[in-house]
Amino acid sequence: MKNFEIVSKRRLAENVSEYEIYAPYVVRHCLAGQFVILRTDEDGERVPFTICDYSRELGTVRILVQEIGYTTLKLSRMEVGDALADFVGPLGNATDLSEFKSICLVGGGIGTAVIYPQAKQLRSERKSVDAIIGARNKDLLMYTEEMRAACDNLYLITDDGSNGKKGFVTDMLRELVNGGKKYDCVFAVGPLPMMKAVCALTEELGIRTVVSMNSMMVDGTGMCGCCRLTVGGRTRYACIDGPEFDGHEVDFDEAISRSRIYREQEQNHVCSIRG
Ligand SMILES: Cc1cc2nc3c(=O)[nH]c(=O)nc-3n(C[C@H](O)[C@H](O)[C@H](O)COP(=O)(O)OP(=O)(O)OC[C@H]3O[C@@H](n4cnc5c(N)ncnc54)[C@H](O)[C@@H]3O)c2cc1C
Ligand code: FES
Repeated sequence: MKNFEIVSKRRLAENVSEYEIYAPYVVRHCLAGQFVILRTDEDGERVPFTICDYSRELGTVRILVQEIGYTTLKLSRMEVGDALADFVGPLGNATDLSEFKSICLVGGGIGTAVIYPQAKQLRSERKSVDAIIGARNKDLLMYTEEMRAACDNLYLITDDGSNGKKGFVTDMLRELVNGGKKYDCVFAVGPLPMMKAVCALTEELGIRTVVSMNSMMVDGTGMCGCCRLTVGGRTRYACIDGPEFDGHEVDFDEAISRSRIYREQEQNHVCSIRG
């Protein structure tokens, strides 16, 4: 098998596919919470994806990819048997939730790719794990069976009520806590506005919160400064200091504003690949 070959590919939801990539050197050391940076071809951009699952026996890594722009669309056109130009990792720090006993994982949209390995890891440590997965509608929910198997309780919520309750992940979390659930940690991953809303709620509820920041990245090694964030008033780099941080210390407004810097150029990229 070729290095970085696509071993399997599966459509999970509208615009989201799961890829299994042959990458024995990445698999050898990877842990939950870490990510890879790949390029589809020699001229490709470097884009980061969370290691969603892996098999040390087969030497393969699974990633879930939401098609939102230039590289993710290029990737969606690659098929089983094609090989990526490179697949660098594992990068970033492994998650450390060892001090917590009762954890609620909250995933919005593609954030499920990050909470799934956490659920499996916490389960193996015999911790109490609940999860809330939210999406705009039922067609965008993914990995529900895998998550159900990995958690004590799984709660689904959609903006339009087409699967699970109607509402946002924050509504579900508030309802669970008001109903008597006790969590000593919330681990939230999803779009920046969602993580910001979860952190505002958990601050009010007094629950420690960890978020996984999906800043734009270039080198992934702390050299370029692209993934810069302000956390607790200090400059931090998502690629080497994170990607996980204390959610109550992250300056989300700055992160949201930085995530929009290249929006115009990114739109042009999409147009040229679609055309
Ligand atoms: C540590 C880390 C882990 C990630 N894990 C996953 C994952 O498991 N699955 C997944 O689908 N995506 C993940 N992402 C986000 C993914 O890297 C971006 O979606 C991807 O880089 C977009 O590339 P593109 O060329 O297709 O889009 P572009 O053409 O670059 O951008 C298209 C649109 O996406 C937005 N965008 C660009 N980069 C990001 C970003 N990093 N996060 C959020 N929005 C972005 C742009 O503002 C723009 O609106 C992760 C990001 C990080 C930093
Ligand atoms: S991606 Fe360059 S410093 Fe983090």
